[in-house]
Amino acid sequence: MSRTYLCLAQNTFRNGNYSLVPIRDEDKYAIMQWRNEQIDILRQKQPLTKEGQEGYFTTTIANLFTQEKPGQMLFSFLENDILVGYGGLVHIDWESKNAEVSFITETKRNTDKEQFINDWRNYLQILKPLAKKHLGFDKLYTYAYDIRPNLYPALLNSGFIEEACLKNHVFINGQNHDVLIHSCFLNQLVFRMADENDVMQYFEWANDEDVRKNSFSNEAISLENHKKWFKQKLNTDSCFLYLFLLNGESAGQVRIDKSNGETVIGISVDKNYRGRSLGTEMLKQATTNFLTKHKKEQIVAYIKLENKVSLSSFRKAGFENEEIVTEQNHKSYKLYKKIAA
Ligand SMILES: CC(C)(COP(=O)(O)OP(=O)(O)OC[C@H]1O[C@@H](n2cnc3c(N)ncnc32)[C@H](O)[C@@H]1OP(=O)(O)O)[C@@H](O)C(=O)NCCC(=O)NCCS
Repeated sequence: MSRTYLCLAQNTFRNGNYSLVPIRDEDKYAIMQWRNEQIDILRQKQPLTKEGQEGYFTTTIANLFTQEKPGQMLFSFLENDILVGYGGLVHIDWESKNAEVSFITETKRNTDKEQFINDWRNYLQILKPLAKKHLGFDKLYTYAYDIRPNLYPALLNSGFIEEACLKNHVFINGQNHDVLIHSCFLNQLVFRMADENDVMQYFEWANDEDVRKNSFSNEAISLENHKKWFKQKLNTDSCFLYLFLLNGESAGQVRIDKSNGETVIGISVDKNYRGRSLGTEMLKQATTNFLTKHKKEQIVAYIKLENKVSLSSFRKAGFENEEIVTEQNHKSYKLYKKIAA
């Protein structure tokens, strides 16, 4: 029997070799096996039985396809049209427009870290637009026990940020564990602090043509130098790397760096997102966050005289007391921002 969700105008969603289709009856035994093998990471207390699974598919699952607004929407996840996982949106709150993401893959794919991260990334690459464009949702979130270290880089790389940590929230195999909640905001600009997995994204931004042109040193940056630089910035307490996400996609970065007695700020907006006032919004969010934590600091911006777009963004973000200085042999604006007295 073919199944379709009444709330979706289309029911097959593809991205490259991967696709999501409404959960198929034929997949029920594979799903049962994976759930039983991975019971530790699930909120399922007892192993599933064949009879129980058959009953669940003929009642709960079948009913999902008769409701305008089901409480969950489950999909089979296929690679080259072969089942490799399943998941979907659960605990759907239609009024608040959010849902929890669930997903598990064939057990043997979990043991390979790269495969695991890729599966999550490919899955979310399909699920995010499904939730945003086809269902009009604002937010997705995951609820995951801290026994899944590979999951976090996968989520952070897919436009999620860590929103909360519920300390010692679950008892598994004789031990207390935290629960981490990661969220993806589908209609908002948010930030998280960058980590080592962002090295290539920063490399791409650093070598962007306009970024190099507007920087004080114009030469292209080698990957080797970038990796050293990035590692050093992550490992010092004096540098704050704010990575911004718009609608769950990387959109730019703000760096606030204490060096040579000054706290200097820099920004780049991803080239696909320029000209939409994001620069101003990113500067406002990053400086508010920084100055709230470092109340006595004053942040300084140096902007080449010809970079009028940047000047405008900084002014609108509350930078003031503009002066003209020579910075690294370039005539530049110097502007300041601190907490209002
Ligand atoms: C500079 C930068 C951060 C600005 O961010 P942005 O989100 O693109 O800028 P905005 O959309 O807020 O635009 C700011 C102003 O410039 C204007 N503007 C934007 N793009 C423009 C363009 N291509 N040509 C002329 N004006 C432009 C906007 O209309 C706006 O003007 P307003 O203040 O009068 O309304 C971004 O363009 C960028 O990353 N550039 C490359 C790196 C860089 O220069 N970094 C700053 C170093 S100090």
